[in-house]
Amino acid sequence: MGSNITGIGSYVPEEVLTNADLEKMVDTSEEWIVTRTGIKERRICPGDKAASDLGTEAARRAIADAGIEASDVEMIICATITGDMIFPSTACVIQNNLGIENVPCFDISAACSGFIYGLEIARNFVDNGRYNKVLVVAAECMSRVTDYKDRSTCVLLGDGSAAAIVERSDSNFGILDTYIAACGKFGNLLYVPAGGSRMPATHETVENRLHYMKMEGSSLFRIAVVAMGEAVKKVLEKNKIGIEHLSMIIPHQANIRIIQAVARMLNFPMEKMFLNIEKYGNMSAASVGVALDEAVKSKKVKKGDLVCMVSFGAGLTWAANIMRWGKDD
Ligand code: UT7
Repeated sequence: MGSNITGIGSYVPEEVLTNADLEKMVDTSEEWIVTRTGIKERRICPGDKAASDLGTEAARRAIADAGIEASDVEMIICATITGDMIFPSTACVIQNNLGIENVPCFDISAACSGFIYGLEIARNFVDNGRYNKVLVVAAECMSRVTDYKDRSTCVLLGDGSAAAIVERSDSNFGILDTYIAACGKFGNLLYVPAGGSRMPATHETVENRLHYMKMEGSSLFRIAVVAMGEAVKKVLEKNKIGIEHLSMIIPHQANIRIIQAVARMLNFPMEKMFLNIEKYGNMSAASVGVALDEAVKSKKVKKGDLVCMVSFGAGLTWAANIMRWGKDD
């Protein structure tokens, strides 16, 4: 008995922000962005919508994909760092949108690693028999914490959402194992300074643009490569699985050069590293979920495949899991 993803869905808003658009906003170029990051465009959430709206749509798709009703969902976990409000949780907003009653709902803050963290929390609740049919949503409006005057960050980020239903499984399909980790001492490499209890909003925090994400890109780059590579190695070694058995790695889509460096470190072919960074940029927690959904829907991941998701983000946090993809007919 284990846990399995029995339904997956994703949703990105329609509005596209291209590199050409960004050239008009900051001192950058299409050439720099594509060669240094691999990103061509990203999606932007409309002004009258929020993370919960994106997450609700992804959740509806995952519920339909699992062949269940919203009322069957027994718990909702939402991974987000751009929730609708400081409180209540975005998971509670999504619950209300879906018309679900009397189930536990909570958010987790693990930044880009949030979807894999969320799946791991769901897996534990399912494995211990307390809950079944757990809805894990990753919903991010990174554009809301992006400083469109800062060229070193604004070219990287986009908005989107993904969702999965995690259920008990008595077949060979499912989440085989997960490795999750964090290192708070590097928290200052990627953060939003103001808006929390340390630095509540004032005129000064707004004037000084302290409600936007601050990032030490090159330090993060180096740590990300090692952390993601090590996470994949650890989860494989613990389960005595050789990397050659992986059909695909679904990596966090922060920078194509990070993904290439991880592939080199693991001696794993780039053709088996799933990529959609060019279309969406970095959607934080939603990135690996959207990538998994696209990999499955485009049949790049097929029934029976051994798949590894790996991510890295603010905290710092990092995580990797291995899944035998598929479900009983
Ligand atoms: O989600 C997980 C967290 N995030 C990450 O993992 C991001 C990790 N870091 C990165 O992806 C890369 O470090 C960046 C894409 C952010 C930056 O790439 P880089 O190759 O590390 O560039 P750099 O920061 O070393 O900057 C190189 C140059 C600098 O100019 P000087 O000082 O050499 O004259 C920057 O000012 O590139 C400049 N630069 C830009 N130029 C044009 C930085 N951003 C831009 C830009 N357009 N958008």
